[in-house]
Amino acid sequence: MLSAIEQKEGRVYILDQSRLPHEVDIIECKSWMDVAWCIREMKIRGAPAIGIAAAMGVALGAQSVRAGSAKALSSALGPVYEGLLSTRPTAVNLKWAIDRMKARLAVEGQGSVSEAREILWREAQCILDEDIRINRTIGAWGAQFIKDGDVVLTHCNAGALATGGYGTATAAIFVAREQGKNIHVIVDETRPVLQGARLTAFEMKDAGIPMTLITDNSAGALMMRGEIDLAIVGTDRTARNGDVANKIGTYTVAVLCKEHGLPFYVAAPLSSIDFSMSSGSMIPIEERDPEEVASLAGKRIAPYGVNARNMAFDVTPAKYVTAIITELGVFKPGELKKLAPDGSTGRRAASPRTGKKRPGTKK
Ligand code: MRU
Repeated sequence: MLSAIEQKEGRVYILDQSRLPHEVDIIECKSWMDVAWCIREMKIRGAPAIGIAAAMGVALGAQSVRAGSAKALSSALGPVYEGLLSTRPTAVNLKWAIDRMKARLAVEGQGSVSEAREILWREAQCILDEDIRINRTIGAWGAQFIKDGDVVLTHCNAGALATGGYGTATAAIFVAREQGKNIHVIVDETRPVLQGARLTAFEMKDAGIPMTLITDNSAGALMMRGEIDLAIVGTDRTARNGDVANKIGTYTVAVLCKEHGLPFYVAAPLSSIDFSMSSGSMIPIEERDPEEVASLAGKRIAPYGVNARNMAFDVTPAKYVTAIITELGVFKPGELKKLAPDGSTGRRAASPRTGKKRPGTKK
């Protein structure tokens, strides 16, 4: 499995996802601005991977900013935080990771500047390592919803490439497969950037999981024919009420699932849940260059002079979401708010499980 990002000896290495699957190119980032460019240009994409990149960008930024003490380093990093935050608006993992880096510096960065820089690199690595563990747990929780013989639809890429490794939505698929279940995955191509056709299809093929690639407008017809059993997707930001922002087209899939009586699951690490937003209407939706819509794989397809619109994400209202699969368990959308960090203690409230067994427990 290819890794989206890694850090080595004071440099950050990002796999250029815009060239996959036909070219494997690694971008060496020597400054935080290189990392910011990679995020903005979608060389790295997917909410958790964007968060990891931002954390590594902060560590890289700390190498170059001038500061006489660890405390001064924290304020000197202001433009780095701002620059990274401005790259893409929808995935909350970006802010989550930067806040975590700031907090680590505030708590532990009392020593020398060089110690503080070291702490930031370690924290960024920790975010990456934790992400992989979290994804495996999400996979273990999610696999119970995939039965032997099921056909699972997924949209965009919520796979290893979108995360530190293993993926979120795909983790449930991988674990179901490891459990010996015979499954088939339907991959939406995901216009205009084609994360499904280029990245999810690549990951499924690599893992030897039977799959079929479809155009984004085929899902309804397949559901009507009884050829899809469930859908599972990732999220860029889920609000406290369970409204889910994810790749444009997710809402359509969710409505189609409801119409056909199929379950629609969202795999969401807690780092993708924004408890500060009471509903999905507050989530900022990225609008990208209309040229991505008017062209296909770099070739102009629409006549010059026509208007195009390129909303990169949509919001699926909680009423269409069957359950949200997190590392703490499976929750109905309305139960999410119980996971909000307790302001006074920093601990989380007790997790209301849906009555499903913990991963790994015997029937
Ligand atoms: O525009 P992208 O490719 O960054 O969008 C990615 C998605 O929408 C993913 O589904 C989401 O980030 C979840 S990734 C685990």
